Amino acid sequence: MSLLEITSQEMLDRISELCTQRPDVETLKYILGNEGILEWAHSAGVSTDHKLRDIAPNVPPYEMRSIVAAPSESVFLWSGIKDAQMCAALFDSHNLNKRERPSKILDFGCGCGRTARFLQLMSRFDVYGSDINQKLVSWCQNNLKTVITSSNDLLPPLQYRDGEFDFIFSLSIFTHLPEASVFAWLDELARITVDNGVVLLTSHGFPALDIICGSKQHQQMFQVTEDDARALLKLFSSKLFIYRSLSEDIIRAANAGDDYGNSFTHENYIRSQWTRNVFEVVKFIPGGMRGWQDVTILRRRPRT
Ligand SMILES: C[S@@+](CC[C@H](N)C(=O)[O-])C[C@H]1O[C@@H](n2cnc3c(N)ncnc32)[C@H](O)[C@@H]1O
Repeated sequence: MSLLEITSQEMLDRISELCTQRPDVETLKYILGNEGILEWAHSAGVSTDHKLRDIAPNVPPYEMRSIVAAPSESVFLWSGIKDAQMCAALFDSHNLNKRERPSKILDFGCGCGRTARFLQLMSRFDVYGSDINQKLVSWCQNNLKTVITSSNDLLPPLQYRDGEFDFIFSLSIFTHLPEASVFAWLDELARITVDNGVVLLTSHGFPALDIICGSKQHQQMFQVTEDDARALLKLFSSKLFIYRSLSEDIIRAANAGDDYGNSFTHENYIRSQWTRNVFEVVKFIPGGMRGWQDVTILRRRPRT
């Protein structure tokens, strides 16, 4: 998916203006190329240039960015672009239900709209969001007007009808849930997905564990020592689902229920346990989300 699809003429004009006014931006365009300069404009550009910022949807405040992803504005925005591109591309390549109307898509666990903020700019999607954290939901409702956002409880049901969505994606949610919640939410997502619809979920697996073993910053995030991380990696070859709870202050900051932790889910477990008799695993991509989380694509089997 080219970023031209989500870039307004106003933004293109401002980029041209910046290229004539600022040698650093002009040089960046040579270095990055036409697509790369759009990636810059939607991320670091929005963060540093007030005119680009006025054109883009509002950026959530530090405290919201830091509980869902990287606190840095530029990185928050850039990761949102990459994940929106990934979601759109994987949906396009696995969608069997071609529509005349826009596809109805749900960002389950949307946080403060890191990914939805970009997908809402694509006219071929009607974007919905749902999250357990009311503060994040209110921010989306007030700032991302074309994302229809609602809150949900710790466990199902969601407020949507059976078979309502063509595509559901959930980034960094199943990475935090204990096993019983994972199954409850898989069943609920199956209920609201249309026959042959696509569900994209991310999980922590070997790529994430390798990164945690080698990075002090990630060990801190996951509240483990390097030795703990190596033990976890070793255990993961035999125990295919591991759930670790987090400290009380992190649970409080996340405001997503008392069982918000870190889970690690092996590909073999996903292939055998996540189908729930209603899904087919059509693809598993290790490190598919920016080399960090694994990506699973499920297809909803037709109802009989
Ligand atoms: C790491 S953040 C990711 C947010 C967003 N998906 C993103 O990628 O930027 C995890 C999100 O999951 C939400 N969450 C956790 N448990 C949930 C549940 N049971 N139902 C809905 N959202 C949940 C949290 O409130 C938080 O916004």
